[in-house]
Amino acid sequence: MDRSNKPSAIGVGASIPQPTISFTDNTVEATLPTGESVTIHLYGATVTSWKLTSGKEQLFVSEKASLDGSKPIRGGIPVVFPVFGPPPSNHATSALPQHGFARNSTWEFLGKSSSESVGKEGGDAVKLDFGLSHPMLSEEAQKAWPFQFGLVYSVTLARGSLATSLQVQNKGEKNFDFQVLMHTYLSVEDISQVTVKGLQTKEYADKTQGGAVATETSAAVVIDKETDRVYRGLDPKAPVEVVTAGEEKPLFSFTREGLADVVVWNPWVEKAKGMADFGPDEAYKNMLCVEAGSVAGWQTLEAGDFWEGGQTIRPRL
Ligand code: BG6
Repeated sequence: MDRSNKPSAIGVGASIPQPTISFTDNTVEATLPTGESVTIHLYGATVTSWKLTSGKEQLFVSEKASLDGSKPIRGGIPVVFPVFGPPPSNHATSALPQHGFARNSTWEFLGKSSSESVGKEGGDAVKLDFGLSHPMLSEEAQKAWPFQFGLVYSVTLARGSLATSLQVQNKGEKNFDFQVLMHTYLSVEDISQVTVKGLQTKEYADKTQGGAVATETSAAVVIDKETDRVYRGLDPKAPVEVVTAGEEKPLFSFTREGLADVVVWNPWVEKAKGMADFGPDEAYKNMLCVEAGSVAGWQTLEAGDFWEGGQTIRPRL
């Protein structure tokens, strides 16, 4: 891999226009020659903006989100690792906060990798890598999860997609178990016009019903109340689609690698009001979380081993 360490500007191409990258203390921004852009906060390696050529924002970020590193960013794509939800008791993750430490640790920008020009013409895509390892965690998190690990999170912006993937390495001598999730907050104009397809016949745990397990009967899941479902055992290659009424092409289509579970979450009226960093109150109408992950069970990583998983989101162009 050809990595540059913390560059302030990269990418002056000879003849073909290249992506531009800017790097400040706490964010990395990349723009394709065609105008698509992505912004990533080093705090949580959270993607906080993804815009199409038209300038249209694809991700929801709460107006009240804290961007100062005091709490996980409410919106964009926070990375959940090594535990999803509240950690179980009597487990190696028990002392960690809800959704683990990846979303509230400061990652390092590793630069662009040599596979950036995945587009045939060059300049059509850019891949940005971020790293996190055990010594970079807060003292508290290091104690709570004493495993030597290395994470490389790659964000690839292409003309018609945004892909995020995570590579996990066990750098220690003991096996560890982990869960992982890409907690994508999508921006939608009107939740009442949106359905989620690709989940029919799949089993899910309904977190609004104490985790009761049910089977999805609907070909197009409507979001008209608090929704918090962990769909499991999906075929990662089969797309999960967010579709708007009257539109043939999906608003967003998700495919995954190695991530067999998908969480569908909308806090709805009361939960939205109850979250101090969620705003405005009615913003639940303008967002939907579709979260690709491996969360129904645990991935066990043996000493020295690697694991990799990721998602590709294709918007309606
Ligand atoms: C979802 C969970 O992934 O994240 C929900 O399924 C949870 O149960 C939501 O409420 C938000 O979590 P947090 O910790 O960011 O408030």
